[in-house]
Amino acid sequence: MSLVELKNIRRVYRSAGGVEVQAVKGIDLVIEAGEFVAIMGPSGSGKSTTMNTLGCLDRPTSGSYLLDGQEVARMNRDEWARIRNQKLGFVFQGFNLLARTTALENVELPLLYQGVKSTKERKERALEALASVGLAERSHHVPSQMSGGEQQRVAIARALVTRPVLILADEPTGNLDTKTSDEVMELFESLHQQGQTIVLVTHEPDVALKCRRVILFRDGLIIGDGDPGEVLGTIAKGVIS
Ligand SMILES: Nc1ncnc2c1ncn2[C@@H]1O[C@H](COP(=O)(O)OP(=O)(O)OP(=O)(O)O)[C@@H](O)[C@H]1O
Ligand SMILES: [Mg+2]
Repeated sequence: MSLVELKNIRRVYRSAGGVEVQAVKGIDLVIEAGEFVAIMGPSGSGKSTTMNTLGCLDRPTSGSYLLDGQEVARMNRDEWARIRNQKLGFVFQGFNLLARTTALENVELPLLYQGVKSTKERKERALEALASVGLAERSHHVPSQMSGGEQQRVAIARALVTRPVLILADEPTGNLDTKTSDEVMELFESLHQQGQTIVLVTHEPDVALKCRRVILFRDGLIIGDGDPGEVLGTIAKGVIS
């Protein structure tokens, strides 16, 4: 059983004026547990739409999505909320931390939503997650007292604290300078080494090269899928763009 199986996923947006946009036009995608995947492609090619499908945030117009053996495409919103909380971890370009809340409290929050009642257990697990991203000493800092890279590492700790089967990150290094971006990618690499499944979206070839597999989108379809060097090579050669 694969961790993720998308079959013939389509997503059509209908605007108020009746205009249809086919954001994703029937994609098949299998991701095994433990994979470290980058999704690339031009603006508007369907990357975020696909991430929103994977994240149980947006319902595909048609198609099937098996996550960890369960058909999730047709679940209702409450079931989705439970799946998101129990199986998925999210990392965003803009970090999305609560502003006047310490790193520790930010990381504890998903456990509170999960119904972990023991304050002690929440704190211990949040501290463990912060330590795993190298930020044990920053646990009482609020976001404004941390660098962008540190904030993103807190966000990664928050995504990890519930021990999700899948981490989804839409342009996680998009707001970071090259050095900090490298640090965040080293952290993802070490999580990958520990068996964590990670799917991220990026526009940056340097970031994609640090993953193990690149999936290339164009016009709502997957037009390339494989070894990062090979897929990026086909882009560089102009075979596909
Ligand atoms: N809520 C929406 N309503 C209508 N159209 C949408 C909506 N969200 C996305 N689209 C359209 O669907 C297509 C795919 O969008 P998507 O956000 O998946 O692209 P993307 O690959 O993530 O692009 P970017 O690199 O700019 O983030 C685009 O044509 C976009 O305009
Ligand atoms: Mg996008």
